[in-house]
Amino acid sequence: MKDFERLFREITPEGIEDDVFTLAGKVFPVITAGKAAHYNSMTASGGGFGLLFRKPVTWYLIRSDRYTLELMLQERTNTLSYFPDEYKKQVLFLGSRSGRDSDKMREVELTAIQTPSGEIAFEEARLVIECELTQISTPGLDDFYTPEAQEYLGEEYKDPSHYRKYVFGTITHVWVKKKDI
Ligand SMILES: Cc1cc2nc3c(=O)[nH]c(=O)nc-3n(C[C@H](O)[C@H](O)[C@H](O)COP(=O)(O)O)c2cc1C
Repeated sequence: MKDFERLFREITPEGIEDDVFTLAGKVFPVITAGKAAHYNSMTASGGGFGLLFRKPVTWYLIRSDRYTLELMLQERTNTLSYFPDEYKKQVLFLGSRSGRDSDKMREVELTAIQTPSGEIAFEEARLVIECELTQISTPGLDDFYTPEAQEYLGEEYKDPSHYRKYVFGTITHVWVKKKDI
């Protein structure tokens, strides 16, 4: 894997220039967990950024049976990679099948790269956020108050492996692609 710091420069969480709604809803984060020997990625949408216990965090809603979540729980860390539009195909591919029973991490046309802390991200990303697992909550169906959520999750919650989990990760590092690369 190539030298991460040759490609990326570190910024503070406050230095993230992107609009959160675009990042969460249009760019789509690729969540990666695991280490170089074995890692897995999934695509997410929604979620966001904020402060929890005075620390900058990211959060997302993940279905209980995602393989990436399993690795996040093992390692207690993960990365979020945000890609330029030209990589949309690859981003959607990572959200189209599970790494539990496919070879998607070998098939995906992206280049894995190790961050200085030993996390896995992708060379083609323009923004990489490293997180440390802070909190996971599994809301019951009664905890959702809107008709839209009730309708959508009513069916899903018939299978406990489809319960959603709110996952909060404290942001430990933020990296942006260097402009002259
Ligand atoms: C655009 C897009 C957004 C997605 N958002 C989420 C999400 O927010 N939460 C979730 O659990 N799955 C989401 N998925 C589905 C997972 O990415 C997908 O099931 C993936 O194959 C899981 O992989 P894994 O089992 O290897 O972790 C999304 C998929 C796509 C294509």
